[in-house]
Amino acid sequence: MMQYKDFAFIYDNLMDNVDYDKWVDYIEEIIKKEDVQVKNILELACGTGNLTIPFAKKEYDILGIDISEDMLSVAREKCIDEGIEVVFLNQDMTELDFEVYNLDCVLCACDGFNYILEDENIQSIFDNVYELLKQKGVFIFDISSYNKLSNILGNNTFGENREDITYIWENYFDYETNMVEMDLAFFTRNKEYYQKFEETHYQRAYKNDEIVNMLKNTGFDYIKVYKDFTFLSPDEETERVFFVCKK
Ligand SMILES: C[S@@+](CC[C@H](N)C(=O)[O-])C[C@H]1O[C@@H](n2cnc3c(N)ncnc32)[C@H](O)[C@@H]1O
Repeated sequence: MMQYKDFAFIYDNLMDNVDYDKWVDYIEEIIKKEDVQVKNILELACGTGNLTIPFAKKEYDILGIDISEDMLSVAREKCIDEGIEVVFLNQDMTELDFEVYNLDCVLCACDGFNYILEDENIQSIFDNVYELLKQKGVFIFDISSYNKLSNILGNNTFGENREDITYIWENYFDYETNMVEMDLAFFTRNKEYYQKFEETHYQRAYKNDEIVNMLKNTGFDYIKVYKDFTFLSPDEETERVFFVCKK
């Protein structure tokens, strides 16, 4: 499955409409609201470090893990440019090999868990996170909602024609498996020609209750669920669901 290979090098370009400052502020607000002392953070599926780097700049001791070496190479390059040091590890979070315990906070932002297609793998990540957290440590993550993946992205095609990048993004949602296949074709400008490359991504749509039940199975008994960068409960229209759990 080809995911986040060549795409890694244009990811930041295509995410330029995402307000990562707002994302960092929201996570800090959650931490404050939960009254947890957070100094160290483990970030799962950190990608090109769009949250990792701002948190590192704010003096958090943050370490990022991602399955894509190419995404991490972009993240490392950005750290060099900004003169900051962050440790990034190339790991599959379903086979987390990390033995630093008593963590204050574990994060996973922007669809990381939608890329985990099997319940048993989500469950084992939750179990590992629980083991790694300190008592009262906080686990914060978000997913694209069932509504977003099934109705909005669903069986739709998107595209954009930019100066240097053009893409076509075709989605197929399967209601039996609750999975969306995303066929992506990119054309990037290379002097006077455009180079084409393709990737297929699979994301799973989870209902909020499915996630909450798995968190409870792990042993989390303090679980909050919020909609779209607010402290309100999710509703039918919610596109991004945030989960906040304390050990
Ligand atoms: C949409 S990107 C989000 C990246 C970053 N969190 C952000 O907010 O920009 C999803 C990321 O999940 C990573 N990912 C997918 N499956 C993974 C797995 N099993 N283990 C670790 N990372 C994974 C991908 O490589 C990709 O970097």
